[in-house]
Amino acid sequence: MRIDVVSIFPDYLSPLDLSLIGKARQDGLLDVHVHDLRDFTHDRHRTVDDTPYGGGAGMVMKPQPWAEALEHVAAQADPPTTKRPRLVVPGPGGAPFTQALARELAAEPWLAFACGRYEGIDERVYEFAREDLGVDVSVVSLGDYVLNGGEVAVLAIVEAVARLVPGVIGNAESLVEESHEDGLLEYPIYTKPREWRGRSVPEVLLSGNHAAIAQWRHEQRLARTAARRPDLLHPSSVGQDVDVATAV
Ligand code: ADE
Repeated sequence: MRIDVVSIFPDYLSPLDLSLIGKARQDGLLDVHVHDLRDFTHDRHRTVDDTPYGGGAGMVMKPQPWAEALEHVAAQADPPTTKRPRLVVPGPGGAPFTQALARELAAEPWLAFACGRYEGIDERVYEFAREDLGVDVSVVSLGDYVLNGGEVAVLAIVEAVARLVPGVIGNAESLVEESHEDGLLEYPIYTKPREWRGRSVPEVLLSGNHAAIAQWRHEQRLARTAARRPDLLHPSSVGQDVDVATAV
């Protein structure tokens, strides 16, 4: 998978050199390119923002550097073809980023990320990307809170997506039993020692009775989901694919 990220803070993306993502890059599973938006400005101050039409607080990212940066990214198709990246723009006004969306993005051959700062990017850039560059644009939110920019969101999204790319995680089985894969949260887990600071591992996990362990884990998942994320169990939950018959 190819990944392009455009940001005014390219150094913010340096964790993409580390850990599983760094290893996947070394192994040739991920081809990551980070671009500095200011390289696409033409004035002495490398200006990327300006005041909003209609008034209001804060600054808006100018369309011109974004258009040239995205044109540059789209022209990177190798070999040059009509192939286009799917553009993901993180922002608090986007659709929720879910495990289902991570799966969808993991199936794409090429993702591009546009990291907005300030109040966001001039709306015409989205139209330009769709209409002139022919790319599919998704605005995606990590949650109902506001970050200073898209960079931290890109790190989270790339991590969630990359680990679903075949070969990136050694033990693919570990992906199956995770929180959010089937609408329920994970069961509690324990390792050695059996007794630690006066606390014991639940007896059933030491029993060797696989059916009883599976039953206990399922009950724990239901109880935990009900306590922490009752919205996942509710049939009207938005954007969640919960099997209500088994989850309630
Ligand atoms: N940029 C600013 N806030 C954000 C959020 N909640 N999710 C994704 N990107 C953001």
